[in-house]
Amino acid sequence: MSTVIDNVDYGPLAQLIGKWVGNKGLDNAPDAKANPDETSFTDELIFTIAGPSENSEEQNLVSIKYHHVVRKLENGHIFHDQIGHWIYEKSTNIIMHSLSIPRAVCLLAGGKYQENNGESIFNVEAKAGSQTYGIVQSPFMLEKAKTKAFKLSLSIKGNELNYHEVTSLHIYENDFEHIDKSTLFRVTYEQG
Ligand code: HEM
Repeated sequence: MSTVIDNVDYGPLAQLIGKWVGNKGLDNAPDAKANPDETSFTDELIFTIAGPSENSEEQNLVSIKYHHVVRKLENGHIFHDQIGHWIYEKSTNIIMHSLSIPRAVCLLAGGKYQENNGESIFNVEAKAGSQTYGIVQSPFMLEKAKTKAFKLSLSIKGNELNYHEVTSLHIYENDFEHIDKSTLFRVTYEQG
C-alpha cells in the first residue's frame, strides 16, 4: 500500500485511512457509586486525510482526522462520540493524538510510533497538568469528574484494528480506571 496521497507522505498514518466497524467493544465506566459498570458496544471509526502542516518553518507534520461513534450493542443508542487527529513527525517518529468529547474534555497525547512482527503500534499518553501532552476540561468536570490521565494503545495488522484505552478519573471522591477496548475491521479505504 502506498503511503503517498496527493503528493503527501502520510507514513504510518496511511494504514489508518478508511472506515472501520466492530461489534466487540467493552466499556468499563463508573456507576453512581463509582463501581464498575460494563457495557458492550459497537464502533464506527472513520479516518480521512487532513494534509501536511509546517510549524515555525521548522517542524513538518502530517495528519489524518477521525470521527469515532460508539453505540450500545443492546439498543444502538449513541453513548460516546469522539473527534480528533492523529499527527506524525517523520524526522523524530513522534506520534500525537488529539481528541475532543462532548463531555467537555479535550486532550493531546503523545508517544513514538513502533512496529512489531508486522503489527503497527500507536501508543500515546497524556496527563492532567502537563503543558505539552495534557488534558483540558470544563470547570464542572475538573471538580466533579476529573480526567487525570489517559493512555491509548492502538494496533493495526492489515484490516484489523485493536485499541485499549485507560482514562484515569477522579469521580464521586474515588479514583476510577475507565477502560475501553475493542476490535474493528476495515470496510472501505475511502480517503475523504
Ligand atoms: C470508546 C470510548 C468510550 C466510551 C464508550 C465511554 C463511555 C462512557 C460511559 C458509558 C460513561 C458513564 C456515563 C454515565 O454514567 O452517565 C463514561 C464516563 C466518563 N467518561 Fe467515557 N467513554 C469512552 C472514552 C472516554 C474518553 C477518551 C474520555 C476522556 C479522555 C472519557 C471520559 C469520561 C468521563 C470524564 C466520564 C465520567 C462522567 C460521569 O460519569 O459523570 N471517556 N464514559
